[in-house]
Formats: sequence, C-alpha cells, structure tokens
Amino acid sequence: MWTTYFDVALLSSPVLAFLTIQHPKMHSKPSSLQYFLVSFVSLLFLRCAASTYFGTPQHTSLSVCTTVDQPNPIASIYPNNATGTLNGTVAVIPISLKLARQLIPPQYGILEHAYRALLPNFPQGMYPAIVQAVHDHEVQAFGYKIDDFSRTGIEFPFVDLLNDNHTSFKWAPSLIMSAGHDIALKGAADYGTNVFPATFEPGCDAYRAVPKAKKPGTTYFSARSLTGAEGLTTLFSSTEEELFPLSFFKNFTNQPTFADGKTCDNMIRLFNTSLTTAPNGIERVKGTVRATIHPFAEEQEWRNVYGLRMDTAFIENNYLSCEDFRGYSGLE
Ligand SMILES: *[C@@H]1O[C@H](CO)[C@@H](O)[C@H](O)[C@H]1NC(C)=O
Ligand SMILES: *[C@@H]1O[C@H](CO)[C@@H](O)[C@H](O)[C@H]1NC(C)=O
Ligand SMILES: *[C@@H]1O[C@H](CO)[C@@H](O)[C@H](O)[C@H]1NC(C)=O
Ligand SMILES: *[C@@H]1O[C@H](CO)[C@@H](O)[C@H](O)[C@H]1NC(C)=O
Ligand SMILES: *[C@@H]1O[C@H](CO)[C@@H](O)[C@H](O)[C@H]1NC(C)=O
Repeated sequence: MWTTYFDVALLSSPVLAFLTIQHPKMHSKPSSLQYFLVSFVSLLFLRCAASTYFGTPQHTSLSVCTTVDQPNPIASIYPNNATGTLNGTVAVIPISLKLARQLIPPQYGILEHAYRALLPNFPQGMYPAIVQAVHDHEVQAFGYKIDDFSRTGIEFPFVDLLNDNHTSFKWAPSLIMSAGHDIALKGAADYGTNVFPATFEPGCDAYRAVPKAKKPGTTYFSARSLTGAEGLTTLFSSTEEELFPLSFFKNFTNQPTFADGKTCDNMIRLFNTSLTTAPNGIERVKGTVRATIHPFAEEQEWRNVYGLRMDTAFIENNYLSCEDFRGYSGLE
C-alpha cells in the first residue's frame, strides 16, 4: 500500500496550522483524497490549499477585502517560513510602573533597567506599554497565503518571563481581531490570548486619512468587538518630534511574545526592506488612543501618545519554547 504524506507546517500570523494530507495515489483519484485536520485549518482553506497543491483549478477568493498594502517582499526569500507584512501604527503609552505592576501577572518581573538602558530620560516611576494597530497582509508559508486580517491590542514589553533579570519578553494578553478569520483567531487563542472578534474601520487597510483634518497627516483606525464592550480607536497626526528613537521600537517589537506563557511567538520585524526604507516609509506620529480592553478594567484614553506609522515585513516562528529564548536579544 503506497501512501504519501504531505506534512505541511503552515505558519501564519500569529498562527501555526499543521495539516496532514493523506494521498493514496496508487489506487484513488485525487477527488477521493482524505484530509486529516490535525489543527485548526478551516475546511475551506484546506480545500483551497490542496487544490493549489495538486494543480486543480484555483477557487476564487471569497474575500471582498481589497487593500492598498504593498506586496510581501520577502515571501520568495523565506519560502519555507511564515512571512507577511504588518502595516499600521505602533505607539508607546507611558503608564505608571505601579499600574504596570498591577496589570502584569505578579510572577513576572519588569525589567526596568532594560528599558532605561534604551530610554535614559524616560520619566521616573513610569513604564512603556505599547499599542499596536495593524493590518496583516499576504501572510504565507510554503506558497499558501491566508486572507488579510487586522488586529489591535495593548502589549507589555520588558517582562522577565524567565526570571533571569535579563531577557525581555512582551506580554500580549488580549487581541481584538478581524471577526470571521478563523485561522488568525484560533492561532492567537492557542497562545492563551483573550481574543475578541471585531469589525474594523477601515476594514481592509491599516488606517485611513481623516478628511479635512486640521493637522497634517491625520489618520484614524477603529476596532469594535462584535459581542462585547472591547474596542480600540486611534487618531494620529504627523509630528516632527522624536520622543523615542527608532532603536527602541525595533527592540520591543522584536521581543518574543507570550500570553499565558506556555509558548512564545518569535515575530521578527524587518526594518530594512523596501516597505520601510522607502521615503516616508516611517512616519513619526502623535495622537490619541482610546481603548476598552483587558487587562485594563475600564475604558482608557491616552493623549499625546507618540509612535510610528510604518509598514514592515516580518518572519514569524510560532509556538516555540519560551525557555529557548533565554539570553535572546533580537536581531541586531
Ligand atoms: C500602509 O497603509 C496605508 C493606509 O492604507 C497606505 O497608505 C500605505 O501605502 C501602506 N504602506 C505600504 C508600504 O503598503
Ligand atoms: C525559518 O523556519 C525554520 C524552521 O522552523 C527556523 O529554524 C528558522 O529559524 C526560520 N528562519 C528565520 C529567519 O526565522
Ligand atoms: C534590546 O534592549 C535590551 C535591553 O537594553 C538589550 O539587552 C538588547 O541587546 C537590545 N536588543 C537589540 C536588538 O538592540
Ligand atoms: C537586575 O539587573 C540589573 C542590571 O544589571 C541590576 O541593577 C539589578 O540589581 C538586578 N536585579 C536583581 C533583582 O538582581
Ligand atoms: C535585513 O535584516 C535582516 C535581519 O537583521 C538580515 O537577516 C537581512 O540580511 C537584512 N537584509 C538586507 C537586505 O539587508
């Protein structure tokens, strides 16, 4: 009995899907392929992937989203890794160290000396929480692409997950994500993330210009949970001020990320592709973030928040042992 197994590890953002296709090709037509769903790939996606794999006509995409995002420039460089692009805004939200201590699980230390080494003038008694409001585009591995999706949440970098007083991890306990994108939603939930399916405005892009805005380069982004109170909106305008250096953003965006601490997500954001190095590829912005999201108990509004609006390519390695990142400092 001749049986071929195609074990395809399909990594996506922030998703790992294992699918095994059993193909008894010596005595069956392709139509009788048996599919075994080892993890959470939707049947529809599996069919599309398999039909691509076996060269039968490609199903037309059900997605109605059209985005202006540039293509993934590194998919062909890392064909066997999960890659994609992340377009959007990432900004620093200073909160009191005391509040950070209440929000971050008590078993994990906060590496204050690590962020002070990068930001010597950061106000005393404060901690840099992070907001990310991004659109994931052309996420793919092994030639399989998943639909784009959006996500947003508040994250907590410089967390001492391993209790070594050295290695920085980013705690990302909650994500508001595109409703209906089962691969992305389940992929995040498998990290122990609190996942809130939501509608986004704009629906298929990272942000949109506010018409007739008073300040130059004013853009908005908004996410609202379908079923709960969770939501997050941003309004950012261009600024000349550089409160935090680019090196700080590179540092925390590349920290291994966890939710329940059982596994870690290693997203490597590249700042050196044409997406980011183009003129105005990185724009400094200042604005307001309003959020209702765990672990904050009630609605928060932060004004005069400084960040970057940019598109970056990324490589993502999913569901790794957090312990294996002991001493990891990100790519230089
Ligand atoms: C990022 O998204 C914005 C808003 O949709 C768009 O204007 C910009 O061109 C995108 N950047 C890239 C490099 O695709
Ligand atoms: C690509 O994936 C392989 C296998 O998971 C991993 O060992 C390698 O480090 C990844 N490459 C990058 C650049 O992260
Ligand atoms: C990030 O910052 C930490 C703490 O200062 C440092 O140890 C690490 O080397 C930095 N990583 C990179 C890639 O700059
Ligand atoms: C952690 O490391 C920093 C910098 O090396 C040091 O100042 C601090 O005392 C250490 N904390 C503990 C609890 O060992
Ligand atoms: C971009 O940066 C990554 C990570 O530091 C490196 O592996 C890659 O070679 C760089 N690519 C270019 C074109 O410089």
